[in-house]
Parts: sequence; structure tokens; C-alpha cells
Amino acid sequence: MKGLLLAGGQGTRLRPLTYTGNKHMLPVANKPIIHYGLEQLKNAGITEIGVILGPMKEGIEETIGDGSRFGVRVKYIDQPEPKGIAHAIGIAEDFIGCDPFVVYLGDNLLKNGIKPFVEEFEKVTWDELLLLSRIDDITKRMRFGVAHLKNGEVIRVIEKPEKPEEIASDLVMVGIYMFRSRIFEAIKELKPSWRNELEITDAIQKLIDWGYKVVPRVTKGWWKDTGKPENLLEANQLVLSDLKPDVRGVIEDEVTIRGNVSIDKGTIIRKGSSIRGPVIIGENCDIGPNVYIGPYTSIGDNSVISKGEIEQSIVIGDTVIECEKRIVDSIIGRYTKIISNNNNLPKGTKFLVGDSCFLSI
Ligand code: DAU
Repeated sequence: MKGLLLAGGQGTRLRPLTYTGNKHMLPVANKPIIHYGLEQLKNAGITEIGVILGPMKEGIEETIGDGSRFGVRVKYIDQPEPKGIAHAIGIAEDFIGCDPFVVYLGDNLLKNGIKPFVEEFEKVTWDELLLLSRIDDITKRMRFGVAHLKNGEVIRVIEKPEKPEEIASDLVMVGIYMFRSRIFEAIKELKPSWRNELEITDAIQKLIDWGYKVVPRVTKGWWKDTGKPENLLEANQLVLSDLKPDVRGVIEDEVTIRGNVSIDKGTIIRKGSSIRGPVIIGENCDIGPNVYIGPYTSIGDNSVISKGEIEQSIVIGDTVIECEKRIVDSIIGRYTKIISNNNNLPKGTKFLVGDSCFLSI
């Protein structure tokens, strides 16, 4: 089987972080989101992978290269405009040829991976395996494609439904699909949707309407679409929950470390600091003295935190924080500097700060 990893689109819901970069390069536990998808494809035995790139492709080719670092072969396919997921799949037809293939939306994270589903799809003759996840909260279902089942098959799929009967099913479409080349026939028949995109949901509905067999599989374990800032923080929390402790940096005396903490080489944690895991700190960071880093925080490479407290946050990297406030639930972009100016704002200040910013609070 081949793989198709989508990294196009605009990432508008992650602005300002995506004004200057591709959303798939944003880090979760200090690793670009797109690496997770690539690794899951590789773990499932898929080594020939097409990567769809949109107009904003900054850093993707540099970090993935020809794929050899990940043990796969990568071909880049340009999608000059974000005309929809089905459009992105359609332009990969030459690359896919007649092989069955997995489409993996590059902003998705899946705890348990896709190996058993890929192995199953390789043995059967169904036309599609549709990966689903259960969501109890009705309002949350409305953000995804919802699937309705009957007799073990998918009978209807609706993109971001609103009507009560449409959201009655608690099964939503994870951004991972296994297709045969028949899907290209369906894509060729599509018209743009209300959001002016060729929707993958419409293509799947066509397969169903034409009488093809679309079989659902429900993933257990967590799944996250990292399309919005709060989802990125949740994904960071979930990935850090499984962090293995690994300290390569220098820890000075009188530093307290509790829980699982990973500190990379070239990093120094200065006297009097306290780190309560799970926390990951990248390379060449300078933390402290007397700084508190709390649970579920990722600090990217080359960051300096010389004053303050931070928890439940993502610091992308190349960042300076010298701030007397407690920073919580925040995503702090690259080349950002946050310093205190001693006013009396309440603690628990919340940030969503883009790249190349300067904040004085
Ligand atoms: O995450 C699961 C959901 O993904 C599904 O439940 C929905 O049915 C499916 O339509 C999709 O919905 P989103 O609104 O979240 O899709 P989004 O526009 O965020 O794009 C998803 C991924 O596909 C993202 O990694 C960017 C990539 N993409 C998107 C478009 C529109 C492209 O590569 N090219 C595109 O033209």
C-alpha cells in the first residue's frame, strides 16, 4: 500500500501561528505534528509516501527530506491552492496509480496508530475502510464529518452536520482513510461545497451511493485533530502523558525535578528551579535560576526562561521569557520575547502569540 500525507491547506484557525509557517510544522512535545503521521505510516509498513504541499510549505521539505531519515521514500506533490481534501487526493492519482492507499491528514494525531487497520485492508476486497472515533458531546461532533452505519457498513457521511438527525450518530471521521483507486472516479464527479472545497465526505458518499462497500472501524485510545490552538495544547498534554524520562542536559544543585522530564543536550537548568513533569525541554535552553516549569509543558530548542512560572503550555523555541507572571495554557511562537513590566495584572495570563512578536506585560 502507498501513503498520502496531507500538509496543504491554510491553517487559518491556528493564526497567528500560521501567518509565518505551515501548521503541520507546529510542535507537539517538541516534534512537528507532521512527523507523527509519517511515523504512523511507517509503523504500518507503508514506505512509499506522497506528501501534499500547499503554498505555505516552510520547513516541511527540510525536515522530512527524501524520507530516508524516517525509513520511507517521499515524493512531494504540489497543491497550489487549498481546494479541499478530495482535490488534494485527486492530484495524487499519478503517484498512487492502481495501488490501494492510506490518506492521512497531516494535522491528525492518533494514539494507537493504524497498523491493524492497514493489515486488515490489505487482506479484504472492500472499497474503503473508514476510521471513526466516538464523541459523546453533540456540539463537538458538528466540527467533523459524521458517519451513520447500518449492518456493519457506512450508509451515510455528512461533513460538519447541523441538523439533529444528522448528528445523531456519535461516530465522527478521523482524518485517516483507506481507499482503492476507485475513489478517483468519485472525486472527478465532485462539485465544490459551501466552503468552496472538494470534500472527501462527498466522495465517500458517492462510493456508497454507487453501491461500493465502505466499512467502518472505530479507533480506541485518543485521537486529536490539531486544527485549533486548544486542540494543539490538548495533543501536547496527551503525548506528554507518555513521556519517557531522559536527562542529557546539566542540572545545577538545588533544582527539584518531579515526574517524567526530558531535558536535551546543551540545556542548563539553573539553581533553585523546579520542574514538575511531564515536561520536555529541547536543546540549548537556559532555564532559571528559580524558574518553575509545570506539568504538560514543552519548551523548544534555544529558549531562555530566566524568570517566572509556566505550565500547560507550548514554547515553540528561540524564545525569551523573563516574566514574573504565571503563564498558563499558552502557545508562544518562535523568536518571541516576553518580559515583565511590573504592573499588577492578575496571574494566569493567557497568550496565543505568533512568530516574531515582542511582548512587554
Ligand atoms: O480531522 C478530521 C476531519 O478532517 C474530518 O472529520 C472531516 O470529515 C474532514 O473534512 C477534515 O475536516 P477539517 O475541516 O478538519 O479539514 P481541514 O481543512 O482542517 O484539513 C485537514 C487536513 O488536510 C490538514 O492537514 C490540511 C490538509 N489539506 C486541507 C485542504 C482543505 C490539504 O492538504 N489541502 C486542502 O486543500
